[in-house]
Amino acid sequence: MTKEAGKSGLYQSVINKGGTVVLLGLQWGDEGKGKLADALCAEVDLVVRYQGGHNAGHTVLHNGTKHIFHLLPCGALHDHVQCVIAHGVALSLDALIQEMDALPDNLRERLKISAHCPLLLASHRALDEAAENKSARIGTTRRGIGPAYEDFHARRGLLLKDVFADDFRPKLRSLVSYHNFLLQRYYGGRPLVLAKIATMLQAQAERIAPLITDTTALLHRAKHEKKTILCEGAQGCRLDITQGAYPFVTSSHTSIGGVFVGSGLCHKDLDRVLGVVKAYVTRVGKGPFITEQANADGARLHQLGEEFGATTGRARRCGWLDLVDVRHAVRMNGVDELFLTKVDVLDQFEVIKVCTAYAESRRPVYTVLPGWRQAIGHLRRYQDLPPRLHAFIQLIEETTAVPVKGLSVGPAREQLILH
Ligand code: GDP
Ligand code: IMO
Ligand code: MG
Repeated sequence: MTKEAGKSGLYQSVINKGGTVVLLGLQWGDEGKGKLADALCAEVDLVVRYQGGHNAGHTVLHNGTKHIFHLLPCGALHDHVQCVIAHGVALSLDALIQEMDALPDNLRERLKISAHCPLLLASHRALDEAAENKSARIGTTRRGIGPAYEDFHARRGLLLKDVFADDFRPKLRSLVSYHNFLLQRYYGGRPLVLAKIATMLQAQAERIAPLITDTTALLHRAKHEKKTILCEGAQGCRLDITQGAYPFVTSSHTSIGGVFVGSGLCHKDLDRVLGVVKAYVTRVGKGPFITEQANADGARLHQLGEEFGATTGRARRCGWLDLVDVRHAVRMNGVDELFLTKVDVLDQFEVIKVCTAYAESRRPVYTVLPGWRQAIGHLRRYQDLPPRLHAFIQLIEETTAVPVKGLSVGPAREQLILH
């Protein structure tokens, strides 16, 4: 059944009332999760970020204003939506407060934060920066994400709740002196001043203290009360620390497992997993990229798609859609349906290539389709799309064995077509 955008109840076929839906990026991040999360929030009661940190940059275009969310869930612009930052998020209090201050006051009544979040400190940022300056091996966002999760897993990190404990200062001293040792002795840089970090953290934590809650219990209660929940993934599956393209990955679980460890919900709580797939591929940072087009096609995708990182402003590398990758991501994340984004970026291409197999040495084998050569940004009904675009969608559905449930044909909330 086809529905028209802009009507209330639009997403009922995507989100069951009282159900829990996960939105996962299936590529290298920046698939357009923010736009979809914002659109779907019209129909949800609660949205939760459960992994990653302010390395994420989720763009929402609302009434002509561009909002980029880093730590806050994209539901922040919907007055009726409760926003949750759960255990698994690497939390920079600087970044959180900066983001909160730019949004309406009523957000404070709707935002809940886990006391169990690993704290991301100024010294984590300094270490990330120093490591990138030394070797630029990964091409991180330089936000301190890797060092923060590293300390967490080594069990020397601080959690948000530690800031309120009596032994906060000695714990922080021990951690920051370790960081300063690395910064000075290994990287040949300057140490950070402990007292400054401590005072700042305590002042910031005081400001958000009323928002702190047991988010796992809150989510369980929400399930019990049959609230509709959206789990907003950050980054993309290829960036998963364990299942992704190690070492060119981020330091959290971006695939489905991250939902469970990060939020405290379990697999039985989920009723749908939506995979977000850009109609081509982009990547920021270093590492292999099988369908990369370091040529005129790549330059054209870059230009038409305005492919610059929402967090760092870096130019994104561009290439053709890799369905071998998407099929793998569908399989390992239990994806039920796909949302295809930035389809309008392909409007003017004479031919569109899609990687449907790998030959020896993982060389991409392309299926070449004729382009539809017409603007689609104004269309709202699936049946009005050009037949050549229907053929593109059919190829995706056949190769991945899951339906394409929705298409995004422009950055605005209403530029969405459901099928
Ligand atoms: P996210 O990290 O997955 O939320 O994606 P980003 O926000 O980093 O990058 C997606 C970019 O594409 C943003 O600038 C969006 O405004 C924009 N965008 C999202 N969907 C569409 C679409 O369907 N068409 C076009 N042209 N732009 C889109
Ligand atoms: P959203 O949520 C795209 C990439 C970085 C780098 C690697 C490791 O907006 O899709 P990190 O700073 O996490 O240690 O960097 O991961 N990366 C992203 N790429 N979108 C993101 O988030 C990303 N978050 C991290 O570019 O290659
Ligand atoms: Mg992004």
